[in-house]
Order: sequence, then C-alpha cells, then structure tokens
Amino acid sequence: MHFGTSPLDFSIQAYQEGVNPPVTKPNPEFLNDIGEEGMRDLLERFYMGLFESPIKNIFPESKEEMLIAAGHSADFFIQICGGPKHFNKNRGAPQMRGRHAPFRITPNARLHWLVTFEEALQPIIKEKQTSEANIQSFWNYLNVFSQWMINSKD
Ligand code: HEM
Repeated sequence: MHFGTSPLDFSIQAYQEGVNPPVTKPNPEFLNDIGEEGMRDLLERFYMGLFESPIKNIFPESKEEMLIAAGHSADFFIQICGGPKHFNKNRGAPQMRGRHAPFRITPNARLHWLVTFEEALQPIIKEKQTSEANIQSFWNYLNVFSQWMINSKD
C-alpha cells in the first residue's frame, strides 16, 4: 500500500539463501532518458555514497580509486540497459558473481548497498529525468540481481 503521491516502490525483496531469482534487465528507456552521462553521474553519486557507507571497508580505500570503480560500474549499467558494450570492451565478460567472489558480500551488506543506491537515484526522481515506471524497472533489476552477489552468510 502506498501513502505518498509517488507509485515508486523501493522495497527490498527478502534474501532466500541458495535462490537466484530470475532477473529482468532494466527498461532501455531508463538509459535513453538519462543518457550515458546521466548514468555516469548516477554511478559517481552511488560510489561516493558507498565511500561514506557502513560497507565502505569492502570497497577501494581512496576517492580516486572509487571514481575509477564508478566508471567500470557505469560501463556495466550502460551495457545492461541496452547501450554500447563498454564493459565488455574495457573489462571483458561481465561474470558478475565471479567478479564479486573476492569480496565478502552478506545479506546485510546488500541492504546497505541498495539503500545507498536508492539515495543516489533521488536527483533523477526529483528532476524528473525519466518516468517513474523506468526508475521502478531499474530498481527491480537492482533488487533482484543484488541477491545473486551474496556469497557469505555473515
Ligand atoms: C545489481 C547488483 C550488482 C551489480 C550489477 C554490480 C556491478 C558491479 C560491477 C560492474 C563492478 C565492477 C567490476 C569490474 O570492473 O571488474 C562491481 C564491483 C564491485 N561490487 Fe558490485 N554489483 C552488484 C551488487 C553488489 C553488491 C550487493 C555489493 C556489496 C554489498 C557489491 C560490491 C562490489 C565490490 C566490493 C566491488 C569491487 C570494487 C569495485 O570495483 O567497485 N556489488 N560491481
């Protein structure tokens, strides 16, 4: 049930151990509307948020390295939203679970990761850079696929 004026639903699906729920890619309209630059800005905000978050210890230690990491992530998100395959070109095949394996990703770390992403999305919502349906589709992707990255109970 929604009490606000926005139909956006940022609820987080409960993690079920051993289950990798089916993933739907975000609507490409999300990228079309915000543009590649908008996606890069989003990932920079997100990584700067992670830098200050309770899970900062699993990420690179310096701001400079975080900005480089944000660039790699932006390459991926542009690609998964149907844009140019920057990630494949710069980093190789995504293999996301394997790439996350060196880091301890717990169910709780996922929650912080998602809440930090929700904060980074706020300017896109406030500035109406795209429709709420497209933002919802992007969130749904994060909500589901982030469960796949969990590799540690606690
Ligand atoms: C929708 C789910 C997720 C996606 C699409 C995603 C995407 C990515 C990408 C593209 C990279 C860069 C890999 C590279 O360039 O080699 C990355 C790295 C990383 N991710 Fe994720 N990730 C997700 C979920 C998570 C979660 C839930 C956590 C932890 C709570 C996490 C922690 C990390 C860490 C520690 C790194 C390495 C540092 C960095 O390069 O950013 N990721 N992720």
